[in-house]
Amino acid sequence: VLSFFVPKSLAGRRVLITAGPTFEAIDPVRGITNLSSGRMGYAVARAARQAGAAVTLVSGPVGFPVPQGVDRINVRSALDMHAAVMARAAQSDIFIAVAAVADYRVANAAEHKLKKDHGGVPAIELIENPDILAEVAALPDGPFCVGFAAESRNLEDYAQAKRRKKNIPLIAGNLIQDGFGGDDNRLVLFDDNGSHPLTPASKEVLARQLIEHVVKLTGKQ
Ligand code: CTP
Ligand code: CA
Repeated sequence: VLSFFVPKSLAGRRVLITAGPTFEAIDPVRGITNLSSGRMGYAVARAARQAGAAVTLVSGPVGFPVPQGVDRINVRSALDMHAAVMARAAQSDIFIAVAAVADYRVANAAEHKLKKDHGGVPAIELIENPDILAEVAALPDGPFCVGFAAESRNLEDYAQAKRRKKNIPLIAGNLIQDGFGGDDNRLVLFDDNGSHPLTPASKEVLARQLIEHVVKLTGKQ
């Protein structure tokens, strides 16, 4: 059939994706993390791969196996994720930041396990982590950047404000009560043309629609 000869929509393109939470150590056995199953990011990686892209997935700690045909780099902290992404961003055509990156890390992480009988209640001092997406978006000749915004309210206002602040062409927004941990989600895509609500569906289906929207905005090559 004719469709056999139609090239896949992302053939020849390199897509870099972050997924999952990050984990910021307090001591060797304790830490601060975000609630994120990694499901949406892994679905986006699979969708990009199915569209023919060469996919690199920089993944925080999640329970999923490597998606078929995807190159996965496992990281733990936001600083690890930042380093893995910045080493690859310039060679990528598209960057999709799905990870729930911890905004802060522990400044005074302990080398050894904290003990209750040493000095009372420990004080945890936090310092800000780098904004990976904003940094990639600021690269000269950098990849086409896509962000995610999980909000508990005011989705459109917060998502569009984030898109402008990070200077990225596309952000996918969802309300956390719609998506967290589950198989399904409700996504709204925000770009220069306004908002595009997608029909509520499985994360797999939504990921494919997101990829098709990226293809539309970046044009065929
Ligand atoms: N992001 C990132 N690096 C960070 C923080 C966020 O790459 N240090 C990315 C996320 O992967 C997501 C987007 O930025 O694609 C928005 O993340 P979010 O946490 O919603 O936005 P923040 O800018 O951190 O704002 P806030 O948490 O205050 O809402
Ligand atoms: Ca944040």
